[in-house]
Amino acid sequence: MKTAIYPGTFDPFTLGHDDILKRALRVFDEITVLVAVSPAKKALFSQDERVRMIREHLADEPRAKVDSWNGLIVEYAKKHNINAIVRGLRPTGDFEMEFQMASMNNKLYQEIDTFFLPTSGNHYFVSSSLVKELHKHGRDVSEFVPTGILNQLKPSK
Ligand code: COA
Repeated sequence: MKTAIYPGTFDPFTLGHDDILKRALRVFDEITVLVAVSPAKKALFSQDERVRMIREHLADEPRAKVDSWNGLIVEYAKKHNINAIVRGLRPTGDFEMEFQMASMNNKLYQEIDTFFLPTSGNHYFVSSSLVKELHKHGRDVSEFVPTGILNQLKPSK
């Protein structure tokens, strides 16, 4: 069985993330959406909240698992015997950082490789921070966020 991890902070999970996941599921048999920690980011939703929201959103997709992890992605990969990481690439400066991260992950665990998918035209300019900012200013973000997750965006933050 071909399995992969799709890691991110997913604060919140957007339709851009959903697009990458669904396309990657055409290639991999099972993908774990891994709610991970990015040290530089202060999250709006707790890790548990994010896991719950993404699980609810993906309830009809049995090949998508959702988990959380506070350590290095490669440690999770080793522990679960997974050899592939899926990442979306946006044409907005992602490449250098992604290349560096993929190289470091491979250095830490030579069994692992990163598979990049280009973000689709509808989503290349989306980011979780922009969604949160628009929402904070009262703008409709339904075009960018799955419905179930949209309902959980807290109005005051
Ligand atoms: N569509 C729309 N938006 C997308 C997207 C897509 N396809 N792909 C990414 N984005 C957005 C994200 O929402 C995020 O927005 P934000 O910065 O406003 O929150 C932004 O692009 C960056 O996303 P990403 O590159 O996935 O960063 P991240 O912070 O979500 O995830 C981790 C980074 C968690 C994967 C990384 O820090 C990590 O691996 N941490 C674990 C520790 C570890 O192993 N570190 C060693 C690395 S060598």
